[in-house]
Amino acid sequence: MPPLLEVDDVYAGYGPIEVLKGISLTVDTGEIVALIGANGAGKTSTLLSISGCLPARRGSMRLAGQEIHALPAHEIVHRGICHSPEGRKIFPRLTVLENLQMGAFSRRDKPGIERDLAHAFELFPILAERKHQAGGTLSGGEQQMLAVARAMMGRPKLLLLDEPSLGLAPMIVLKIFEVVRKLNDEGISILLVEQAARMALKLAHRGYVMEMGQITIAGTAAELLTDKRVQDAYLGE
Ligand SMILES: Nc1ncnc2c1ncn2[C@@H]1O[C@H](COP(=O)(O)OP(=O)(O)O)[C@@H](O)[C@H]1O
Ligand SMILES: [Mg+2]
Repeated sequence: MPPLLEVDDVYAGYGPIEVLKGISLTVDTGEIVALIGANGAGKTSTLLSISGCLPARRGSMRLAGQEIHALPAHEIVHRGICHSPEGRKIFPRLTVLENLQMGAFSRRDKPGIERDLAHAFELFPILAERKHQAGGTLSGGEQQMLAVARAMMGRPKLLLLDEPSLGLAPMIVLKIFEVVRKLNDEGISILLVEQAARMALKLAHRGYVMEMGQITIAGTAAELLTDKRVQDAYLGE
């Protein structure tokens, strides 16, 4: 069986600036894979490239063996890769419910959408309470929950999470990480970008370290947590 996601020697950038310089990584079915690295390393660009928002100039990307790298972003969602972007990017004027419905834009299975809505409200009860409130009136933590729940509404095989803990109180971060674990238990594979490297590696099965547009260290989460270079640079030891 091929990996669920296989990114192979991908180059991408913005105009003349090359930001991703030959990225290769895999996510197997059932895995949580952490992608860590300093600010500006290219983590967000990697996720944008996988979801079709930042076209790869070279290299290939396969989902369950099928080439996806030339597909438009909406088709990639349809194939089963959903993205909770950095900075949440919820729709501030739409209600919580409408934001969630937007997450299901690629689906036509009404009963399935209703089931997943109920499930999202079960995972994040505060979103149920705020269902008819505009997204922009939510707290930062609630907006992050909404961004994760909206991505789930696309019924992903692979969920891309970009900095879900950024700027949030520790209690909220715990809650979000707990949901990430639950989603993984339910069979969703996850590629998790995090500044909170220790937390991410504790949750993940495997991890990659990114520096200046390249993957420089790869290993199991346990290996990375005990790697001297990772400890010195990212774990504050
Ligand atoms: N829209 C953009 N236009 C030009 N350069 C960008 C843009 N977005 C990001 N970059 C540059 O690409 C590099 C990688 O950024 P990014 O992928 O956001 O890294 P990370 O998520 O690891 O912090 C940085 O040097 C950043 O300045
Ligand atoms: Mg980023």
